[in-house]
Amino acid sequence: MSEIISAKNVTTAYGSRIMHDNVSFSVKKAEIYGFLGGSGSGKTTLMKTLIYLNQPKSGEIKIFGEDIWSVGEDRRNEIRLKCGVMFQFGALYSSMNVLENVGVLLREYSNFSDKEINELAMFWIQKVGLKKESAMLNPNELSGGMKKRVALARALALSPEILFLDEPNSGLDPLSSRALDRLVCELRDNLGVTVVMVTHDVDSIFDILDRFLIVDNKKIIFEGALSEIEKLENNPLEELFKMRAK
Ligand SMILES: Nc1ncnc2c1ncn2[C@@H]1O[C@H](COP(=O)(O)OP(=O)(O)OP(=O)(O)O)[C@@H](O)[C@H]1O
Ligand SMILES: [Mg+2]
Repeated sequence: MSEIISAKNVTTAYGSRIMHDNVSFSVKKAEIYGFLGGSGSGKTTLMKTLIYLNQPKSGEIKIFGEDIWSVGEDRRNEIRLKCGVMFQFGALYSSMNVLENVGVLLREYSNFSDKEINELAMFWIQKVGLKKESAMLNPNELSGGMKKRVALARALALSPEILFLDEPNSGLDPLSSRALDRLVCELRDNLGVTVVMVTHDVDSIFDILDRFLIVDNKKIIFEGALSEIEKLENNPLEELFKMRAK
């Protein structure tokens, strides 16, 4: 399997505060790849460096084989459009209903007619497990879990090649959470979508991640599959779960 994302010797910082010190990792095509680590360890920050929201201090990040921070403006926009993003606190536009929120990128970046945009938005709304009727609701009429699904539908609207999800399961009840995991697997299996997800959901970690990294104290302390981490004498996952349980 070929690498779709590769990060080499990446250092990130907020001002003079180093968040990641010379870290490297890679994601293969059609993999479901996890970013794990304690709260505040820098998972969201690391994801932001992959989607043009946080420029690394040094190092190289390649997506589709291209150094994303050194390509020209046009190519940068093309790469951006191939990446769907669902943020941790998935902000929806409060002045737009669900249908409009999901269609917002289609209206901006596609040549589809309004009718086609609404049909496509409706397709994704149902795909993420929302009822047709919710399309006309405003964000303030939605539960936390529904908002997450709308944000996911919006991230999927342009049929991205890579889907970045920041804690997609948090705030969902166990049934919805498993449904979301199944959807992620389906996107990968049927459409070949590569998924990078920040998660601390134990079921997701055990059931759907192909490989993952663990960030701790500015470093990546593990990168690999569950079967590999389970062989370690001091399994960092156990430490992580203990920390979460406190
Ligand atoms: N825009 C910013 N400016 C300055 N510091 C920031 C900024 N965003 C995040 N930080 C700091 O960087 C650190 C890592 O934050 P980040 O959001 O990446 O952590 P995280 O691993 O995603 O945490 P969580 O599990 O709680 O979401 C935190 O100490 C945070 O306060
Ligand atoms: Mg975060």
